[in-house]
Amino acid sequence: MSDVVLQSVVKRYEAMVAVDHVSLAIKEGELVALLGPSGCGKTTTLRMIGGFIPVTEGRILVGGRDVTALPPFKRNMGFGFQNYALFPHMSVAENVAFGLEMRKVAKAEREARVKAALDRVRLGHLAARLPKQLSGGQQQRVALARALVIEPDVLLLDEPLSNLDAQLRAEMKDEIREIQRSLGITTIFVTHDQDEALSVADRVVVMQAGRIEQDGTPDTVFETPRSHFVAQFMGVTNLFKGETTADGRFRLGGGEVIAVPPPPVPGAALAFALRPERIALDSVAGEASEAANRLDVEIEAATYRGLVIDYRLKTATGLTLIARQPAPAVGGPPALQKGQRVTAHWQAQAGVLVPV
Ligand SMILES: Nc1ncnc2c1ncn2[C@@H]1O[C@H](COP(=O)(O)OP(=O)(O)O)[C@@H](O)[C@H]1O
Ligand SMILES: [Mg+2]
Repeated sequence: MSDVVLQSVVKRYEAMVAVDHVSLAIKEGELVALLGPSGCGKTTTLRMIGGFIPVTEGRILVGGRDVTALPPFKRNMGFGFQNYALFPHMSVAENVAFGLEMRKVAKAEREARVKAALDRVRLGHLAARLPKQLSGGQQQRVALARALVIEPDVLLLDEPLSNLDAQLRAEMKDEIREIQRSLGITTIFVTHDQDEALSVADRVVVMQAGRIEQDGTPDTVFETPRSHFVAQFMGVTNLFKGETTADGRFRLGGGEVIAVPPPPVPGAALAFALRPERIALDSVAGEASEAANRLDVEIEAATYRGLVIDYRLKTATGLTLIARQPAPAVGGPPALQKGQRVTAHWQAQAGVLVPV
């Protein structure tokens, strides 16, 4: 087990900068999610950590040792990929044994470790099968066993769940998390899925265009995005440019003045970010009197999403907001209807200001 440190790591492909001065310290035993949209440099970062592609600039340290120039097999890291990358002609057990053979581990020990690794992912009974005789979830578990059997210092996982269907994805995620915790293995988990990152990781590192946009605990990144990009990526549907007023409030584009938490960067161009689930709606005037912010709105559309309903709201000045409400309870009041006029309200602390 080891900590992993990236010091101003850069990857350039000719003029293209894929990873742009990324610095990151991952503690021993921590599970860090690298989160960001396609093409932001997640895989490139992971593969540089693993030693599969050389860094252009910067250093990578594992357990205090500079591994920047070392080939992959000298870094003692386990890898798991989106497409599993199993050898199709080898049995499950042979696939898992492969890394041990490469390391010249003696046969008896090899067999014991392969068995233990397969038992850990609950596949002991399928050791003799070929990969094509397994489901996607089982193949991914073989890949995980293969990564773990070498007893790596660090586990690197690149979108390990993205080829699985929704239910299996949730199961595998929990399984990976449980194994990771029980082994205490330092893990870097690449994903483009916010929910996955939030629920699996101790810490979430949001990347965009080769750079780290924000690095924090899941709840910090979710509740307090530090940039317009992070807010948008984390599902903040209400984002409005505007300006702070002399009395410390914030004027939205439409002219509405609202109460907000203090701006993070005085003087910077700012946008107001408010999560859709932070807006409450009342059809009876007066109910909202406790909240700092109130806007009279008309419901333009209601989108049923199962657990929740998303309401598209329009203010008198033409501003559009999205409010997310729990779907009506059985026997409770019905959902609000298109065309209804309601009061949207929220506490000042419910929103955040982010640099544009
Ligand atoms: N071998 C390569 N040659 C040139 N550009 C590359 C190469 N590999 C990746 N890139 C580019 O680097 C950027 C980051 O890619 P990648 O790390 O795969 O992103 P992600 O995993 O976040 O989707 C992308 O713009 C991609 O097109
Ligand atoms: Mg990728």
